[in-house]
Amino acid sequence: MTKSIETTSLFSQYGQADPYPLYRRLRETGPVHWDEWMRTWIVLGHREITELSKDPRLSGARIESFYEQLPDSARTGLAPLKDALAPMMLFNEPPRHTRLRQLLRPGLTPRFIKEIRSVIAARVEELLDEAAARGRMDVVADFSEPLTRDVITQLAGVPERGAHLLESWQGLLHEFFTQSRREVPRITALRGLFDEGAQARRDGTGTDLFTKMVSGRLERDEYTEDEIFANFLLLIDAGQATTTHLIGNAVLALAEHPDQQTLLREQPSLAANAAHEFMRYDSSVQFTSRVALEEIEIAGHRIERDQSVALVLGAGNRDPLRYESPDRLDVTRKAHDHLSFGHGIHYCLGASLALAEIEIAVSRFLDRFSSFTLLDPAPVWLESINFRFLKRLPVSLEAR
Ligand code: HEM
Repeated sequence: MTKSIETTSLFSQYGQADPYPLYRRLRETGPVHWDEWMRTWIVLGHREITELSKDPRLSGARIESFYEQLPDSARTGLAPLKDALAPMMLFNEPPRHTRLRQLLRPGLTPRFIKEIRSVIAARVEELLDEAAARGRMDVVADFSEPLTRDVITQLAGVPERGAHLLESWQGLLHEFFTQSRREVPRITALRGLFDEGAQARRDGTGTDLFTKMVSGRLERDEYTEDEIFANFLLLIDAGQATTTHLIGNAVLALAEHPDQQTLLREQPSLAANAAHEFMRYDSSVQFTSRVALEEIEIAGHRIERDQSVALVLGAGNRDPLRYESPDRLDVTRKAHDHLSFGHGIHYCLGASLALAEIEIAVSRFLDRFSSFTLLDPAPVWLESINFRFLKRLPVSLEAR
């Protein structure tokens, strides 16, 4: 099981240009493996990931346990980050998870998504106007990042003077698990702004979107300020860089598949379907993790209590048992059951919003420019095995 870790461990491949051949090689020998390098189970099959995502014997509550096993010296500086992360719904299980999800879910309605589509479309057009004037852009820095940041700023109700706090947001989870404290001052500053709005949120006089989302639920005093803040932060954390980089990955995929680009240009009505296929083909989030509360048998293996399990969503998305020719981008494919938004009770709360942003950004980009050319000889990826984030994607543009 431990033989040749360098070539078989998923976790020895930081910043790799293409993780998919490794997923394929591992999957060919089975959908579930023990990874000695990281001492975690890794699950690569679509069916097994789907099954385990619904299994209450696996828990997403992994913040406190990780923190508890750190030496005292590491804990001190990391405490503010732990306190901000632990009450996020993502790291809780029922009944607390159900209660926390109820805080935000009523705000992300189909009606809200319909309304915010025009906000997204207007911002997309502005950013593409600027790019057209320059004849080139970095798809990430000049387009998808400002787009998702502005949408989430509005959604979370971050006041104008705090908008800079959301710049270059890369994700708190990565920060926490790598024991980095870079973002602690930023969280403290956001908390200050957030606390200023506390009274208006509770008495329902606040006019920002987040206040409107949560106000009905606050009257009954069901939530502490720490819980509300953590889930406000989750909106920012889960909703921004993920979508930024999904749009980057989609544009890269279209550059690498000219036939699919032509098809999407000829049939723009495919854009909503294509958004799901971009999610399946190359997601910005490659896996999520859980801890076993009890012993679990899966695919002939026994996961012991307290062992960690990585559900490799990006591998399940390329499972040949689920998708025909999974390594081919096909914008006509019906792949709405891809795993990139997770599955089960933690299914992404912002999925409809993310899909709307991807669909509008990609379709307007193709409509405004008759062609585009990648300017980097090879894509440059963030050094992370979980987040598939392009550091930049410079392109030259041919306007219509
Ligand atoms: C949960 C991915 C966009 C808010 C999740 C999960 C995944 C995911 C995989 C489940 C994690 C798990 O089970 O451990 C993505 C991707 C996105 C995206 C790839 C973009 C392409 C968004 C947006 C928002 C958002 C735009 C909010 C505006 C959330 C929240 C949860 C979540 C609140 C936690 C749900 C829960 O624990 O019940 N997301 N997400 N996400 N996502 Fe997203």
